[in-house]
Amino acid sequence: MSWFSEHYDLLRGLHIIAVIAWMAGMLYLPRLYVYHTRAIPGGELDSALQVMEVKLLRIIINPAMILTWLFGLSLMAARPDVLAQPWMWVKLAGVVFLSSWHGFLAGARKKFAAGTNARSEKFWRMTNELPFLAAVIMVLAVTTEFLAR
Ligand code: HEM
Repeated sequence: MSWFSEHYDLLRGLHIIAVIAWMAGMLYLPRLYVYHTRAIPGGELDSALQVMEVKLLRIIINPAMILTWLFGLSLMAARPDVLAQPWMWVKLAGVVFLSSWHGFLAGARKKFAAGTNARSEKFWRMTNELPFLAAVIMVLAVTTEFLAR
């Protein structure tokens, strides 16, 4: 039995903890962007939000994504059979969306820092829940194993 199989439940727990941190950060960062659209470039609110956004990304969101991937891949090493399961394809499609959205949010942070953000307050409000919707589909896919072969 491999090390991954022997420590499966520990890895699954760590995976879920990393997922929670990743999702919390991905739902909080666009909220900061909502208020940042109202900030006067170079003003007090602008610089305060820039500090909050870069800290949130570097201290929470980026490490949480890396750990989610690391523990997720280690679970896959313990159970490679899941790759044949349609529910895992649905889940991995969600992972591709979340990882791309993460990259989009990181790019937006640089635009706010450069004072070149062109997205409206409404855009950031409307798209704020997208990661949550993806997480709902992914968690139901992996826990119910629907369409399981
Ligand atoms: C980033 C890449 C990811 C990979 C490679 C990955 C892979 C996996 C694998 C292989 C399992 C074990 C499945 C099983 O044995 O039944 C698992 C469990 C789980 N994953 Fe992920 N996952 C990733 C991201 C996520 C994300 C973003 C979420 C939530 C939004 C998530 C939620 C879960 C949950 C809740 C479980 C536990 C299911 C259970 O124990 O019943 N995963 N993941």
